Amino acid sequence: MSFVGNFSFVVVCVVGAVLCSQSIIEFGVIVSFMIYIRLFTSPLGQIAQIATTLQSTAAASERVFEFLEEKELEDESNKNFKLESVEGKVEFKNVVFGYDKDKTIIHNFSAYVKPGDKVAIVGPTGAGKTTIVNLLMRFYEIDDGEILIDDVPISSLTRENVHSLFGMVLQDTWLFEGTIKENIKYSKLDATDEEVENACKVVGVDHFIKTLPEGYNTIFNDGTSISVGQKQLLTIARAMVENAPMLILDEATSSVDTRTEQLIQKAMDKLTKNRTTFVIAHRLSTIKNADLILVMKDGNIIEKGTHKSLMKQDGFYKDLYESQFTSKHAEVIEN
Ligand SMILES: Nc1ncnc2c1ncn2[C@@H]1O[C@H](COP(=O)(O)OP(=O)(O)O)[C@@H](O)[C@H]1O
Ligand SMILES: [Mg+2]
Repeated sequence: MSFVGNFSFVVVCVVGAVLCSQSIIEFGVIVSFMIYIRLFTSPLGQIAQIATTLQSTAAASERVFEFLEEKELEDESNKNFKLESVEGKVEFKNVVFGYDKDKTIIHNFSAYVKPGDKVAIVGPTGAGKTTIVNLLMRFYEIDDGEILIDDVPISSLTRENVHSLFGMVLQDTWLFEGTIKENIKYSKLDATDEEVENACKVVGVDHFIKTLPEGYNTIFNDGTSISVGQKQLLTIARAMVENAPMLILDEATSSVDTRTEQLIQKAMDKLTKNRTTFVIAHRLSTIKNADLILVMKDGNIIEKGTHKSLMKQDGFYKDLYESQFTSKHAEVIEN
């Protein structure tokens, strides 16, 4: 539109100059034509602007309507039973699940977890490990089968109740805008400052936080420069403060270096003691001491047992475990 406006100025000037030099028109005519052009092009420019606004409105409303059209969560106001303190027995019974109805991802998953056990789920990317965690937390409803906590099917509990039983640290960390202290206290609002600081000391971010200008009261937002690993440590501290009866760690230490991981590992061992814990980890050395290792592939458990028994089986787990060491060897040799 501005090109059309400016181009007409040029045309008027050139044509006007020619006509004026031949005394066909007077100079005043050129000036008045310039004013006409201005009058003509400014509404055109406005229309163009409105068109852009309309386009972004259309794009935004698409998102709003998409959200409004989402299916409502099932009403749970009639569920009065509440599981308060749990022993930590978890049982998966023939669980079948797919995000889309026509594509099953978890085919027939059964597992029994004794109270206080540390269960490791390992397997290649896309095997369905995170999906199992999502089902356990009831973020999605299973298509068939049952998940029981202390012999109570989780479908008979309210979602809030299920969530309150687990502390979780996920692969993708999320922190909201607010002070670091508020972020850590998020899952237990009545935590004292001392609890917060202790948790941070244990995971080793206390020192880092103290170097920030406002310490624990530093406002955390998009501009705060903090590494992914440090974010992960903060969410681990959050889970520690929460102190829930069961714990889920989904690649919780994937973004921190190996030495920090070892330090966290020690703290975690304290945290996971006598507490049913589900650990998903890529570095298999960190889950060697698990009471039960479930090896998943394409939504099925293909092997299960302890580290020792799985190594003896000489199957997929052994391959996976050894590949981590051989690749490290290869790196050392290359360097
Ligand atoms: N929200 C989702 N919607 C549809 N498909 C999904 C979703 N999340 C994961 N999947 C699919 O489920 C499979 C298992 O994913 P996931 O459980 O995240 O694997 P991982 O073992 O790496 O954690 C993958 O094939 C993935 O494409
Ligand atoms: Mg995952």
